[in-house]
Amino acid sequence: RRPYIKFTQINRIMKDLMLRGEEGVGVYESGWHRGIEGQMSKLIAFTPVKSGALALGSLWSVAVTAPISEVSVTVRQVYIRHFAAEAALIAVMFIFGLLVFIYQRRVSEALKARVKQTEADLQETERVYQRIVEQATDLIYILDLEMRVVLFNRHSIEIFSNLVVTEKDGGVIPEQADLSRGELYVGKKLAGLFRPADVEFMRRQIDRALERKASYSFEQTLTIRARKVHLSTKLIPIRNDRGEVYQLLGISRDITERMEMEQRIYNTEKLASIGTLAAGVAHEINNPLAIILGFADLMLERFPPGHPEYEDLKVIEYNANHAKKVVEDLLGFARITEGLEDTVDIGHSMNTVINIIKNTLMTKKIQLVTESPDQLPRVRGDTREFQQVIFNLINNSMASMEKSGGTLTLSTHAEGEWVHVSVTDTGVGIPDRIKAQIFDPFFTTKKVGEGTGLGLSLCYGIVRKYSWKIFFTSSSAEDHPDQPTGTTFTVSMPIYQTRE
Ligand SMILES: Nc1ncnc2c1ncn2[C@@H]1O[C@H](COP(=O)(O)OP(=O)(O)O)[C@@H](O)[C@H]1O
Ligand SMILES: [Mg+2]
Repeated sequence: RRPYIKFTQINRIMKDLMLRGEEGVGVYESGWHRGIEGQMSKLIAFTPVKSGALALGSLWSVAVTAPISEVSVTVRQVYIRHFAAEAALIAVMFIFGLLVFIYQRRVSEALKARVKQTEADLQETERVYQRIVEQATDLIYILDLEMRVVLFNRHSIEIFSNLVVTEKDGGVIPEQADLSRGELYVGKKLAGLFRPADVEFMRRQIDRALERKASYSFEQTLTIRARKVHLSTKLIPIRNDRGEVYQLLGISRDITERMEMEQRIYNTEKLASIGTLAAGVAHEINNPLAIILGFADLMLERFPPGHPEYEDLKVIEYNANHAKKVVEDLLGFARITEGLEDTVDIGHSMNTVINIIKNTLMTKKIQLVTESPDQLPRVRGDTREFQQVIFNLINNSMASMEKSGGTLTLSTHAEGEWVHVSVTDTGVGIPDRIKAQIFDPFFTTKKVGEGTGLGLSLCYGIVRKYSWKIFFTSSSAEDHPDQPTGTTFTVSMPIYQTRE
């Protein structure tokens, strides 16, 4: 009836496996399943069942069967579901991974941007610091404990480069080096850059700062191109995180101007007190002097040259005249305070002066050269006082050419807001060692009776009064044996501006 069933297969499964109480699956050919007929492969799954309710030693084997086609559909469905689930899982994982990746990228980009910003901020801060340090009008420098340069700011370089010792003189800086470059100094020891005396001075100051472990202030005077530069310096030990000093910060201020100003105020005060004194004394002396001179004159008429008393009388006259000159100079100070006019016609004033001195110059074998434009603007000041200044300068020039004659050059020119008047001589010049003193009241190198030492301080007083300027250059045989000697004094006066 059922031609498709293969009993041999079933029997083998039953006999060899199920009856022995084994567990497993098998396949056999059958002809029906749940009312459906026809050839089909069926799957059988079996397992032994042991139960207390059953007789001891006896064993049941339970089996389920189903056509493979039915099972395979189920299996395929299971597979498909499984696959779908796996695919979904992979997709979810992929998307999750992607999200994590994107998130991380965002975070890292934000981080990168933050780092970049911080870096830029830092750089900006550094630039600001650098600019402050570079543009500071103070000298700012950093040295390590072995006196190696860590930093010189621009102003330090401006001053210190003038003191550098080059290779030729035993330093470490090559001859042709560009001394204005900061990198040139970084890492070099002071001992290789400057003169031993300067380095030794600095070392002592550093030692003192380190001893105190606190900032230490000192003042020093440097000679830079024949000009004295005064520095007020503070050395500050710099500590690392552990509190150990490892560098020194130096801040120096150029106090030259302040010192010069103080000196000037001091000079002006000295002049003012001389003025007050002079005004009082001069009148007291003037009258007796006039009488002495008057009588000397009278007596000289009675005792002509050749007479035994003549020479003695001449001595009286000469000295009384000198005393008169001193008194006049002193009175000059007293007059400083009372200016008469407020503008000066420089060209006209100079012509008057030239007319007065012409003859004297001729007798002293001094050539006169004048250089001046046709027209000069008026300057602020008083004519008489201007002439007094120029006379004093010319007198000094003539005195300096006393021995061998020479050339006196008077030149005037306008430049910007100033008119400059120069008095130049080819005289003996002023030695460097007394240059700082020549404006001092009573400073003179002339013989007693010849100079009062008041000429230049009088000039100075007048110059100060009108805010003019006076300066000089001079070369003497003492300092420059193989150069021509001579002196130029220049007075600079601001042009008088008429208000429109
Ligand atoms: N043109 C000059 N050449 C050389 N030395 C000068 C000149 N002008 C001034 N001096 C120096 O300055 C000193 C002071 O000058 P001054 O104040 O006019 O006083 P005095 O002429 O009475 O000596 C002079 O003694 C002289 O040594
Ligand atoms: Mg003089």
